[in-house]
Amino acid sequence: MAIPALQLQSACKTFNAGQWNEVKAVRDVSMVFEWGESVLVIGENGSGKSTLLNLVDGTVDLTAGSVSMSGTDVSTWPVYRRYRHIHRVHQDPSQGMAPYGTVAENLAVLGLENTSLFDVDRLADQADMTHFARTIAVINPDLETKLERKVYLLSPGQRQAVALAMLALRDGGQRILLADEPTAALDPRTAQTCLSLIDQKAKSGWLVLHVTHNSAIIDANRGRVVTMCEGEVSSDVYT
Ligand SMILES: Nc1ncnc2c1ncn2[C@@H]1O[C@H](COP(=O)(O)OP(=O)(O)OP(=O)(O)O)[C@@H](O)[C@H]1O
Ligand SMILES: [Mg+2]
Repeated sequence: MAIPALQLQSACKTFNAGQWNEVKAVRDVSMVFEWGESVLVIGENGSGKSTLLNLVDGTVDLTAGSVSMSGTDVSTWPVYRRYRHIHRVHQDPSQGMAPYGTVAENLAVLGLENTSLFDVDRLADQADMTHFARTIAVINPDLETKLERKVYLLSPGQRQAVALAMLALRDGGQRILLADEPTAALDPRTAQTCLSLIDQKAKSGWLVLHVTHNSAIIDANRGRVVTMCEGEVSSDVYT
């Protein structure tokens, strides 16, 4: 059998353990995912979907259990190390980008896996602006002329479009895409572009974990759907 892209073994996350405000956000989750799979992760607010993604990218530490990527236990790896194998589109697009940087500076960061963030100004100067403009125009034509605008001045939907351009520009082989409600802030046309982009990544061999509340996306889905309920996986089925 092929080595799984991602494996969670008895993964648990308890916030504020032993205190009055203890929350068992993820309880004993064990799942295996293969390269090229596109998986919808659904469930009510507070059911543990984002926490599950946080355990995969390491932004939240496991309380118990383990996370393996391509057969290697990464449970003790820091976030930056995991990000060589992961790309994340956040539920809040302000996360995962530099709000006081320009659109171009944020896109330039993608090429710089081993470079200091302090070099971003210089890197944006050297970057291929025509390529950036063409990429972002496919996602949101209006942003083509806004490459020099600071990200914090954009609307939430425009910021999410920048996050998608970052995804489109991320290359360098097979990765795990963690997409947390990536269409929530998008207009219908941009949402469709987002879904096509996600589909393209899965077809090129990425593993996609796509969290959504969007019933149209859930109804149209043909593939694996994981449902979370109170921190547990209540179902894991193919539709
Ligand atoms: N940093 C934290 N500290 C304490 N509790 C937290 C923290 N992060 C999440 N929680 C709690 O863990 C539970 C799961 O939260 P999580 O954000 O994973 O839910 P979700 O399924 O992504 O919800 P939504 O659909 O609203 O995005 C919730 O009860 C939440 O309050
Ligand atoms: Mg969430």
